Amino acid sequence: MDSLEQLVETARAAFAGAPSPAALENEKARFLGKAGSVTELLKGLGKLGPDEKRTQGARINAAKQAIEFLLETRRAELAEGELAARLAQQSIDVTLPGRKRSAGGIHPIMRTWMRVEEIFGSIGFDVADGPEIENDWYNFTALNNPENHPARSMQDTFYVEGGMVLRTHTSPIQVRYMETHAPPIKIIAPGRVYRVDSDATHSPMFHQVEGLVIDRTTHMGHLKGCLIEFCRAFFDVEDLPVRFRPSYFPFTEPSAEVDIGCSRAGGELKIGAGGDWLEILGSGMVHPQVLKNCGIDPAEYQGFAFGMGIERVAMLKYGIPDLRTMYDSDLRWLRHYGFLPLDIPSPVRGPLLGVTGAGGAA
Ligand code: DAH
Repeated sequence: MDSLEQLVETARAAFAGAPSPAALENEKARFLGKAGSVTELLKGLGKLGPDEKRTQGARINAAKQAIEFLLETRRAELAEGELAARLAQQSIDVTLPGRKRSAGGIHPIMRTWMRVEEIFGSIGFDVADGPEIENDWYNFTALNNPENHPARSMQDTFYVEGGMVLRTHTSPIQVRYMETHAPPIKIIAPGRVYRVDSDATHSPMFHQVEGLVIDRTTHMGHLKGCLIEFCRAFFDVEDLPVRFRPSYFPFTEPSAEVDIGCSRAGGELKIGAGGDWLEILGSGMVHPQVLKNCGIDPAEYQGFAFGMGIERVAMLKYGIPDLRTMYDSDLRWLRHYGFLPLDIPSPVRGPLLGVTGAGGAA
């Protein structure tokens, strides 16, 4: 091995031995820098004769190129090693439990729906369902709304093809359930309903939850006890005043609207004892004619029903001032009023105070 080959080998070993990019650059200076061995050799060419200069110059340049190639190779190697080390350091253990809040959340309407199911579920109610496109019989007639009776125009109805309607309330689910189930019956039925109405407090689509209890002995006292307990659990106010006000629905007799106590002192609405009242649901003893229409003998069976607007109680509970914001899908609103995806009401864990937004109520 001549001295130039020797030099290339020395450089190879020196570069290989450099543990970091900085160390490598120091080694580079030893060979290719201003006072480096290769540079010195090139300077020495001046002393040689023209022929020797040509052959020796070509050999030195070849050695220089070889050293430069070795340098580049080692540079790339070190850079790759550094990247790998950095990646290893930044790697995440995907099996660790999550900490960060995920982007999605539970809408207050859904959270309310689930909470209502949770409360009634804990006292033995089943959950029933029915179609959103109904016929006249289920939405009106079976519920004791005779043809052309003014009660029908109480609700501005969306009519669809074939004489069908978008259900204007969840009450038709009562009828469907009684037709297919023998008493005792104890159900709630949450779902979407539709009315031709749109302003700050009305939306053409909104949600209701229906309740129905039928057996041989259930009376108005049970209706009252059940709904008082529900209101107190839902609003989380133990001594919440609950008032039953005589009213009229074609499918119940007697009928009562249910108010809860509140205070509006200082312009701020507070649920609880305070001298003012808020209407939150309709109820009554199921009309004997409705039982008959559903194939249940009113001489043997009786019971109560109720219907409640989900948006309405959600707005009251969480302090949401405008109904229309519920359907805007505004991410800022959803982050403020929404709930953690895993914060699902459970009878085991009890009521949760899972509001993520600063302004939400518990
Ligand atoms: N269906 C009624 C409405 O939409 C609410 C209602 C009132 C339902 C009384 C009931 C009830 O079951 O008993 O306005």
